[in-house]
Amino acid sequence: MRASADGGGGDVPEGVYGASRAAHRRAFYECVSDLLEEPEVRRMGAHRQHGETSRLKHSLNVAYYSYRVAKALRLDCRSAARGALLHDLFFYDWKECGLTPLGHARLHPHIAHTNASCVTDLNEVESDIILKHMWLCSRDRPIYGESLIVTLVDKMCACAEALADVPVKGGRGRRRQGP
Ligand SMILES: [Fe+2]
Ligand SMILES: [Fe+2]
Repeated sequence: MRASADGGGGDVPEGVYGASRAAHRRAFYECVSDLLEEPEVRRMGAHRQHGETSRLKHSLNVAYYSYRVAKALRLDCRSAARGALLHDLFFYDWKECGLTPLGHARLHPHIAHTNASCVTDLNEVESDIILKHMWLCSRDRPIYGESLIVTLVDKMCACAEALADVPVKGGRGRRRQGP
């Protein structure tokens, strides 16, 4: 679950472009390590989200990149990471429930928020992140910069994950990237 320590910084000395990738990963995992110990959070690993990507992997992708963007913009990167990690904390199968895609898009943020509230005490930013992350599909507009970041990063990660296993013509399929 923990990030590897390789960092991938190449020959660039740490500090030239800010903290190294390994340092960012360490700081990120310090923000969410308690949540990753929670059985309900780990349970997301058994559920598929986009393509072959599990819900836990998707949530980690969204959390890590939201953390990096929020940190670069000097926003509350800890709340961005924690809210994003919990933004899809639901376990129902929307097709089995007879929901339409739009119905699911509007319902699951509320289910996730209820579930996340049972896992940890949510602050206002984290609550807004979870409840508003489907903005544009839902009419619940984010009121915090961190929430706006998560809703955009969520959509980018969903596209990348869905396309990750599509074979590239004349070559091998792309490998998924993540924190
Ligand atoms: Fe979602
Ligand atoms: Fe998501």
